[in-house]
Amino acid sequence: MTETRRRVFSGIQPSGDVHLGNYLGAIKNWVELTERYESIYCIVDLHAITIPYEPEELHDRVLDLAVALIASGLEADRCTLFVQSHVPEHAELAWLLNTVTPLGDLQRMTQFKEKSERIKAVSAGLLNYPVLQAADILLYRADLVPVGEDQRQHLELTREIARRWNARYGELFPEPDALIGPGRRVLGLDGVSKMSKSQNNVIPLLATPEELDAIVRTAVTDPARVARVDPGNPNVCNVFALHRVFSSPAEVEEIEIRCQTAGIGCVECKRLLAGNIADELAPVRERALELRERPDLVREVLHEGAERARVIARETLAEAYDRMGLRRNMAPTPAAPAAPAPAATPDPA
Ligand code: AMP
Ligand code: TRP
Repeated sequence: MTETRRRVFSGIQPSGDVHLGNYLGAIKNWVELTERYESIYCIVDLHAITIPYEPEELHDRVLDLAVALIASGLEADRCTLFVQSHVPEHAELAWLLNTVTPLGDLQRMTQFKEKSERIKAVSAGLLNYPVLQAADILLYRADLVPVGEDQRQHLELTREIARRWNARYGELFPEPDALIGPGRRVLGLDGVSKMSKSQNNVIPLLATPEELDAIVRTAVTDPARVARVDPGNPNVCNVFALHRVFSSPAEVEEIEIRCQTAGIGCVECKRLLAGNIADELAPVRERALELRERPDLVREVLHEGAERARVIARETLAEAYDRMGLRRNMAPTPAAPAAPAPAATPDPA
């Protein structure tokens, strides 16, 4: 097979416990994409510091997210997984791209507007967030970027930045295509809003079966079904929506009928769901437990991932610097292993 495979790149923020929304909406798809594409996935810690955060917690969050991603199937033999700040070329390219990005484009971004309404001290980092995202993608000259619907605008801006840079300095960056997932928007326990840490309505990916049982029990079902004897409407029930994902077709059909005829109560229905989620995610949880015991192993995966990513990143960045007329007067970087430097020779002018 000599045909070069197309390259996928995506990033995820280390913003707290990974939940079923992240898993069904993003991670599962990422794992599937590794079958068909050269896949590079990045834990974007530099993006995470654009809003107020605790430095001491960030380390753990990055490691926890890495555990969840690897346990979900993003093993080192299938993809390149690394942490953004371990590859300094991201921040460097972002700076270069900032110089071709119109201020007005950044001020127009929906996500910037939303976040800056919530935050008291809005930093320039928050405004420049999409430029760093463009750098993430363009550094690897990625063809495809799997993201949720909410990132479409950032992807469009990435394409625009690539076009502007190419027009000014010559073709270097391909315009990446967004790969908007199968559109699975997972609702939270409230059954109304998107499952999200900020909404406090999540089912954590790595919960134990007991925890799952307790958490799912709090899920809101058909609000019109008040008493056990009332028939329910599965079409307005998020517990049923999750059954569609985690239960067998036969079970889904049976639950649908029994709900509509008051043959099953919500408590039992939720217990069944919690059990099925636990069963499906058991291998992920087991692998995560192993990895949590071996943080050294996780760090090794991330280190190796960063090394691999840097090979590509360095090459793209060197080309970008050169085209922009930068670094040409620098002594060439010695190829590793470096020749021993002569003692105390003054720099050539
Ligand atoms: P976040 O941590 O919210 O930035 O989400 C990380 C990834 O998970 C993004 O690709 C989101 O599109 C996806 N995601 C987050 N929440 C949900 C949800 N409730 N339903 C579907 N996808 C989600
Ligand atoms: N902004 C993305 C999100 O919130 C995360 C992200 C950062 C990203 N860099 C990226 C996604 C590059 C795709 C490609 O979900």
